Amino acid sequence: MNYRHAYHAGNFADVVKHAVLALLIEHLKAKDSPFQVLDTHAGIGRYDLSSAEAQKTGEFRSGVLRLLDADPPRLPQELEPYLRVVRALNRGAPSLRWYPGSPRLALDLLRTQDRLVLLELHPEDARTLANAFAGDVRVKVHAADGYTALKAFLPPKERRGLVLIDPPFEKKDEFARLARGLRHAHRRWATGLYLLWYPIKDRPPVAEFHERLKASGIPRILIAEFLLRPAKDPERLNGCGLVLVNPPWQVDATLQALLPKLVALLASERGAAARVDWLVPEPAAPA
Ligand SMILES: C[S@@+](CC[C@H](N)C(=O)[O-])C[C@H]1O[C@@H](n2cnc3c(N)ncnc32)[C@H](O)[C@@H]1O
Repeated sequence: MNYRHAYHAGNFADVVKHAVLALLIEHLKAKDSPFQVLDTHAGIGRYDLSSAEAQKTGEFRSGVLRLLDADPPRLPQELEPYLRVVRALNRGAPSLRWYPGSPRLALDLLRTQDRLVLLELHPEDARTLANAFAGDVRVKVHAADGYTALKAFLPPKERRGLVLIDPPFEKKDEFARLARGLRHAHRRWATGLYLLWYPIKDRPPVAEFHERLKASGIPRILIAEFLLRPAKDPERLNGCGLVLVNPPWQVDATLQALLPKLVALLASERGAAARVDWLVPEPAAPA
């Protein structure tokens, strides 16, 4: 396990993933009943952008920092819950210093009745996470393989909530594991809301992943993709994609409005683009 998210925290891919995660959590909050967020690949929860790792790549400069430097009228309103958390985390700091990973973002948006379950396989990162959230009764941290949680922890007792699956893609078969993990999870909890993240380098592995998802028999799968440039060079992270299973009503339209605006804010190369499409649409109601 060599992957360290500290090098990439706040980059364009984090912005896309976290902006959508925040929107989905806000949707869940429309009802008073409690829900659970399960984050299978949690990271350390909060990243110091002044660290040697973040400074070495500087990836946050073309991600979250671009949003904070943008003229406020250019910022889409759909980014509000996400940016609210980023700004609150940096209150009192002279400039952008802290970036919320998915656990920090989720927790800052949750209410007292909601729960957050985190899995992180890297022992040191899991310890950091446990220390960061010690004393908050809403949070449980497990130093374990996130894929096992898709069998062991679903469905949640609240029968409402969201599962984020955000693996590091270090292993060659990660796309296949991701599709398999979703299949297992969906078998246990078919009505859950799922958010999966994947990298886009070149097209063939993504096309194969989409075929696996289609073949899974899972209905209501929405795909949202963000490309910095055409997906041609397999050595570069040219873009990223999100899989949403059971997205709340009108989230497809919200993302169709948001993603092109994010492209305009974050991408400057030719061929930058966004798309939001149903991979597997809602089954038609019986006549
Ligand atoms: C992309 S990062 C997660 C970023 C985080 N979700 C966020 O948005 O802030 C992937 C994380 O998964 C961890 N990891 C790798 N394999 C894992 C596994 N099988 N189960 C749980 N965590 C794993 C890595 O140590 C890394 O911290």
